[in-house]
Order: sequence, then structure tokens, then C-alpha cells
Amino acid sequence: MSNPASPPGVGLLDEGSAALTFPPGFLWGAATAAYQIEGAVAEDGRTPSIWDTFSHTPGRTVAGHTGDVACDHYHRMPADVRLMADLGLKSYRFSVSWSRVQPDGSGPANQRGLDFYRRLVDELRAYDIEPWLTLYHWDLPQPLEDAGGWPARDTAGRFADYAQLVGDALGDRVNHFTTLNEPWCSAFLGYGAGVHAPGRTDGTDAVRAGHHLMLGHGLAVRAVRASRPGAQLGVTVNLYPVTPVSDSPADTDAARRIDGLMNRFFLDPILRGSYPTDLRADLRGVTDFGHVRDGDLAIISTPLDQVGVNYYTRHVVSAGTGPAEPGPSCWPGSEDVRFVSRGIPVTDMDWEIDAPGLLETLQRVHREYTDLPIYVTENGAAFVDAVVDGRVDDADRLAYFDAHLRAAHAAIDSGVPLKGYFAWSLLDNFEWAWGYTKRFGMVRVDYDDQARIPKSSARWYAEVIRRNGLAAQ
Ligand code: FCB
Repeated sequence: MSNPASPPGVGLLDEGSAALTFPPGFLWGAATAAYQIEGAVAEDGRTPSIWDTFSHTPGRTVAGHTGDVACDHYHRMPADVRLMADLGLKSYRFSVSWSRVQPDGSGPANQRGLDFYRRLVDELRAYDIEPWLTLYHWDLPQPLEDAGGWPARDTAGRFADYAQLVGDALGDRVNHFTTLNEPWCSAFLGYGAGVHAPGRTDGTDAVRAGHHLMLGHGLAVRAVRASRPGAQLGVTVNLYPVTPVSDSPADTDAARRIDGLMNRFFLDPILRGSYPTDLRADLRGVTDFGHVRDGDLAIISTPLDQVGVNYYTRHVVSAGTGPAEPGPSCWPGSEDVRFVSRGIPVTDMDWEIDAPGLLETLQRVHREYTDLPIYVTENGAAFVDAVVDGRVDDADRLAYFDAHLRAAHAAIDSGVPLKGYFAWSLLDNFEWAWGYTKRFGMVRVDYDDQARIPKSSARWYAEVIRRNGLAAQ
């Protein structure tokens, strides 16, 4: 997009006003994930992952949508990188498809798969865009699921081998690595509620999966660091402030429990080397934690170089009696907790728009857990977009970004070492079980002809990046 002009609407950048400036070198980026954009699922030696299997299983995704073609990014990568350059992105966060680079989930690398990512990284570097590589964004090779998936301990070791393989192949040109994206989703949506791949529904398995994901993370950090000592290594967790609907002891306790399962389940082992005592007690009826072996927590808490936070919304909860919903749950042991809507504006996902929650989350991670550099590795919103005269004026998405960037700036002002921000997402894409029915992109994708149209939010973001800041309100 050449010559971006400020769009009408919220958050206009006025050259004359006192700007909210971000620190020099702030890493402005956008994020995607392999299965959500690449397509080309059977090309150049790629084999199925759990998301291929899941999306091809009737009834699992809206209208049976699959990632078979998605945004066809595998074939359109150079043009997509040009688009990023036009936006002025300083960094691009993408994920590697494990099934593309190590089709059996173990054993030798698939050179043609690695070559794609090499070309991508070289293309990014040619435009001075810092590549930010996520090793695992939910797409476990199907053979590893067939061997037990993440509830099986062995999968952690397979993940470390794969990480080493990618580190060896790309570590000469990639500095930033994220091991896992949102392990909560992999574990609790994939093995608990069963609404994500692989679609299994056993709370005990979900807890085991969560542990083995973290074990794989720790082993992967060690493996990549051993061969690439200069690499910046971290993990991305999705965090939600959890607020009780009232200050009654029952509601307060419901919030404590959900915070335990959602946030502290991952933050404590990774950044403190232990599971929270109250969480262990809450999960008494689900697991005896017999899957945790001596030494695991030392591996899981291997020191990192950065922490990634994905933020979308807040959870407001109340205590209930009996399961909140029939059927499998992503809240093992706390199925009774109710999720309350406050009646404030929501996105097309029905997620409440709560920018102060981002400030709260970043402050909490810094205050309670770490002095490490923090990056917002995802933040964004789905809205229903309309193409009018070839343009998409997504004022609602633009306002969402604007409000959350103001919260990010407030976090920096308050002393949080926030070093970068990645919008989710660069492109409209395959939104998991929602298929193509939810649009998160700053750039519109027409799935009939794969045309890309930068929306108003993209033009606005380009201006934010160019000025390294926002207008004062
Ligand atoms: C996050 C995922 C990402 C995308 C956004 C909307 O949980 O990491 O792939 O689906 O939500």
C-alpha cells in the first residue's frame, strides 16, 4: 500500500497534537499462523496435522471449512511480504507448520518445507522486517496424535527435536523464537472441551497435555539455545484478567479458580518453577499430578529472554451450582463457574471490548512474574466488514486497536518493559472452528479470488508505525 492516508474515524493522527510516542525501537508487527493462512496442505511433502484431520471431520468447523486453501499464502508469500513492507511493519510473527518441515513428527527434515520458510525469512529481511518465528501454533503432526498426542509425555521430546531442527535450519537468520502459542488452547480446548483439534474431551488428559506442552517448551528452549546461543527465546500465553461479578466469597473464589486454570496454570510453572498450591487442590478430583516427574519444573522454568502475551478480553465470572453447560468443559474441576456478560460492546466473537484489561494484564505479568521484556504477540478483533466501492472502512476494528494501543502505552508509562506489539491479524484467515466466518484481518481477503484489500485499520496502523505513536485524545 503506497501513500497511506489517515482514514476517517476514531484515533485520527493529527500532525499538530501532542502524540503518545512509543519508545525508540518499539517493535511494531502483525501476526499470522501457518494453518490459518498457508493452504497448500499436500504440497512439497507436507502431511496432515491434527487441524487437517479435525477440519475434515464433519461437524467440527462452521460449514465444514478447512485450511486446504486458506489465504493461499504458500503461493503468494512474496506479494504478502510486499504488503507488509507497504504497511511499514518492523516485524512479522508467523508460525512454522511442523508437518511441513518434519512430516512424520520425528525423523529427518523435509528440505522443501524448510525452503519455504527460508525464502519467507529472506524475503522479510530484504525489506528489513524482523522475522519472529513461532514453533507451534496448534498443528501437531497427525502421527504424533495417533501415538497419544500431548497427553503422552513422549510428545514433549518430539517437540524439542523439531525445535532443534528448525533452530539449526533457520537460526542463522531468525533471532526471535516463540516456542508455543497459547498452550491453554492446545490443552484445554483441544483435549478438554474438544472444540479445537484433536477434539478429545477428557479433563485429565487436558491437564496432562498442559504439562507436557510446557515440558516440551522447556526442552525446546534448551535445545535451540544450545545450538543458537544468540537466539531470543520465549513463549506466548493467552491471559485474561478474571473478575468476580460481586465481592461475595463464592464469586471471588470462582474468579480465583478460573484465574488458576487459565493464567497461573502456565505462568507459575514457566516463570516460577512451580504449580500454584490452590490450583493443585482445585484439580484434586481431576488428577493426582502423577504425570509430573522430578526435574520437570526445572526444565519448564528454564530462563527465557522474552515473554509473549496475547490479549483479547476479560472474563467476568460468578459461582454456580452444577455444570454451567452440558457436555465437555475446558474448565476441569470448575465446571460450575458461570461466565457473565456485562452488556458492554462486544466484537463479532462476542468478546467484550475491554482495553483496560490489557493494561492490567501487562502490569500483573511484570509485577508478579518477571522483569523480562514483554511483547504483546497478539491483540485484535473480529468484526463484520463490508466492501464498499473497493474499500473496507473498519472503524470498529480501528477503534479497538487504538484503545488497546493506548492501554499498551499506559503500561509502558507505568514501568512495564513492553518492547513490541503484534496486531492479530495481518490477513483475514481461517479462524479455527469458526472457519472463514470471522474476520480478524487488517487486510481483507476475498476467498473467491484471493484479492487483498488493506482496510482502514491497516492504513491507520501504517501511520501509527510511521510516527511511532498515537495522537493525544
Ligand atoms: C488466538 C489465536 C489466533 C487467533 C486469535 C483470534 O487465540 O492464537 O490463532 O485465532 O485467537
